[in-house]
Amino acid sequence: MNDALQVTAGFGYPVIVAADCWQQLPIYLTQLGLSGRVHIVADQHLQSVATQLRIACGDASTLLILPGGETSKDSATLMTIYDHLLSQRVERSDIVVALGGGVIGDVAGFAAATIVRGIACVQMPTTLLAMVDSAVGGKTGINHPLGKNMIGAFHQPRLVLADVNLLKTLPARELAAGWAEAIKHGVIRDAQLFADLAQADPQQAFFDATLVRRAVAVKVDVVNIDEREQAERMLLNYGHTVGHALEQLLGYGVLLHGEAVAIGMQVEARLAHTLGLCDDHLIQRQTAILQHYQLPTTISQGITVPQLLEVMHRDKKVQAGQLRWALPRTIGQAEIVRNVPIATVQSVLSTLIAEG
Ligand SMILES: NC(=O)c1ccc[n+]([C@@H]2O[C@H](COP(=O)([O-])OP(=O)(O)OC[C@H]3O[C@@H](n4cnc5c(N)ncnc54)[C@H](O)[C@@H]3O)[C@@H](O)[C@H]2O)c1
Repeated sequence: MNDALQVTAGFGYPVIVAADCWQQLPIYLTQLGLSGRVHIVADQHLQSVATQLRIACGDASTLLILPGGETSKDSATLMTIYDHLLSQRVERSDIVVALGGGVIGDVAGFAAATIVRGIACVQMPTTLLAMVDSAVGGKTGINHPLGKNMIGAFHQPRLVLADVNLLKTLPARELAAGWAEAIKHGVIRDAQLFADLAQADPQQAFFDATLVRRAVAVKVDVVNIDEREQAERMLLNYGHTVGHALEQLLGYGVLLHGEAVAIGMQVEARLAHTLGLCDDHLIQRQTAILQHYQLPTTISQGITVPQLLEVMHRDKKVQAGQLRWALPRTIGQAEIVRNVPIATVQSVLSTLIAEG
């Protein structure tokens, strides 16, 4: 684990991003002193890997296969995991291994956080989005019909093991959605990462474990500074205030999460520009890189400004009725902005909806 990134939150844990590393799970568990039974909760697209992993983890380990996709991030799926773990007589020393995208990671992580008042969890992300964002940082949870991610808990994993070779089967659209979060990391904190992503070939770049690792490192750094999202970590919400609202209005699963974030970044960059925080060049560079990765950059038709505003104000980022925005100043630097006049938000949204 020498070249692992290290998160200090929770018990402290390594984040390994490499090629051909998933088979090493039992070795890492031993090194971390995790000796309980392993319960693998796996995305259905990883069935073959999950079956081999279960064999590698020994006879006592169990396997539950679930469908991925946003519609699975609900109370019914959570109950299926509880049913499985309880029928397998789960114990406090056991370990849940979440093998899948952000959906499996969030819901299985929440099951681990809550079953028998909390057991260890290992995140094995298999989508680019889960690698660069959701697997690190301990946010777990499910959606509620009244809001995305509204039920959940902070539960830091004991290990994140990301094998970039597992991305080979990921559909191009899902891959692009993952790049949206990596690009976001570049905009908020790492100008060189942004520049290197702009030069990379979107279809090949995921083979470059170093590039993926650098995108993950931004998340690790931010979580290390601010585990509970009091300050710095809120910057990771760039693109998410509008993005979450779009996902919810269109119905989960219509836009992929990363696609919604890409559109959200476009809106929020315009907002930053209107407020005099950034120049037009930032918007141009951001638009170009999102298009390079075949990501959407305009708001889908059929959505109105009042609808968006209403959903945005139900967001968890609202404090005392005010939205807190993560807005860019330059590529590589962002800040949290409060008290943005509602009329300014309305006007930016109206312009973008008219253009879309
Ligand atoms: N916890 C956090 O901090 C955090 C951060 C960002 C996003 N998220 C959450 O992550 C979720 C989105 O994650 P996602 O984009 O990974 O979605 P996902 O988990 O639904 O995966 C996307 C699709 O890819 C499939 N899939 C997964 N791995 C595959 C592989 N290797 N090969 C082929 N297909 C594969 C899945 O079955 C699914 O159909 C959202 O619910 C979002 O809220 C959480």
